[in-house]
Amino acid sequence: AHQWRGVVREYADRLPVTDETKIVTLGEGGTPLVHAPKLSELVSGTVYLKFEGMNPTGSFKDRGMTMAITAAVEDGAQAVVCASTGNTSASAAAYATQAGIKCVVLVPDGKISMGKLSQAVAHGAEIMQVDGNFDNCLDVARKLSENYPVFLVNSVNPNRIEGQKTGAFEVVDFLGDAPDYHLLPVGNAGNITAYWKGYKEYTEQYTNPRTGTVSEAVATKTPIMWGFQAEGASPLVQGHPITEPETIATAIRIGNPASWEQAEAARDESGGLIDAVTDEEILAAHRWLSAKEGVFVEPASAAGAAGLIKHHAAGNVPEGKTWVITVTGHGLKDPDWALRNADGSSVEPTKVPFDVVEIATALGLQE
Ligand code: F0G
Repeated sequence: AHQWRGVVREYADRLPVTDETKIVTLGEGGTPLVHAPKLSELVSGTVYLKFEGMNPTGSFKDRGMTMAITAAVEDGAQAVVCASTGNTSASAAAYATQAGIKCVVLVPDGKISMGKLSQAVAHGAEIMQVDGNFDNCLDVARKLSENYPVFLVNSVNPNRIEGQKTGAFEVVDFLGDAPDYHLLPVGNAGNITAYWKGYKEYTEQYTNPRTGTVSEAVATKTPIMWGFQAEGASPLVQGHPITEPETIATAIRIGNPASWEQAEAARDESGGLIDAVTDEEILAAHRWLSAKEGVFVEPASAAGAAGLIKHHAAGNVPEGKTWVITVTGHGLKDPDWALRNADGSSVEPTKVPFDVVEIATALGLQE
């Protein structure tokens, strides 16, 4: 039987590896493109969710990490470092463990979810809780990698972008061509950069820089890219860095994205936009995805869907189009948000005795 072999093996012809490369993989990628019936109905089109929570560590970061750790090991790395709002650190810790190398993670104190922190702990990373935000952590991580023998595996490492571009390949391979629109959350802006690179490369003949292997074009077009930041952390929308970014979507609580120019290029070359959604809009979309589509995501991951709903309400969404929204991380990463009602009160399960009649009565069932 065929088993998905992870993105580096599946897309080896389009990634910087050779037949000799020892690939570090946990079988990432090959994630479902889930049809979203209720969003499709809303916009009178076809909406799919690229469910990246289905990756081994529960987020899209695994696509980039398999490539980044593979390349780091090939270059002789004994240790890697990253700054993270939680998902990158969970992923780096897992892949470094499989590679048998050390992993140092720098996370903003108190601003990462318990689920993500527990992953880094479980995989044995050296965890430094920095008295600062993500941008401060990235600053330190860069300096550590410049001055000490540790490899940086944030998305400023080009291998991360290479691995993550496979998300676009999978969408095209599944749909047969690029969708009309691709929507996704934007934080440090690595993922919008990677998708745009992947979509563009799939429309052209591609020569592998390491092996010389030539691959023919697969797609006839590229999508319009729509990126969404959280309003309190929307430097790309406001046009300047934010020193004190704030949002409940801690994964994208970032004030000075490293791939700023690349994100703007994806927006401008595709004729798209980068807009902001409020925390309320994010939480409403988070609820929509779980309660109407059956897809459980973490809050930041709902920013793309929030953007679609917002722009539909504003009359900016044409009918009859195909939309792909990357939902970036699993709901179990940060499950507390599901246990709150829209008004902020906590959800209380109905308490019942050990009695079938009482339970049937509480459910309003008739014999
Ligand atoms: N969604 C989730 C769940 C994320 O964890 C991130 C980024 C993004 C979206 C934004 O992606 O940075 O490529 O624009 N998380 C990083 C981390 C910053 O450290 O895990 P981006």
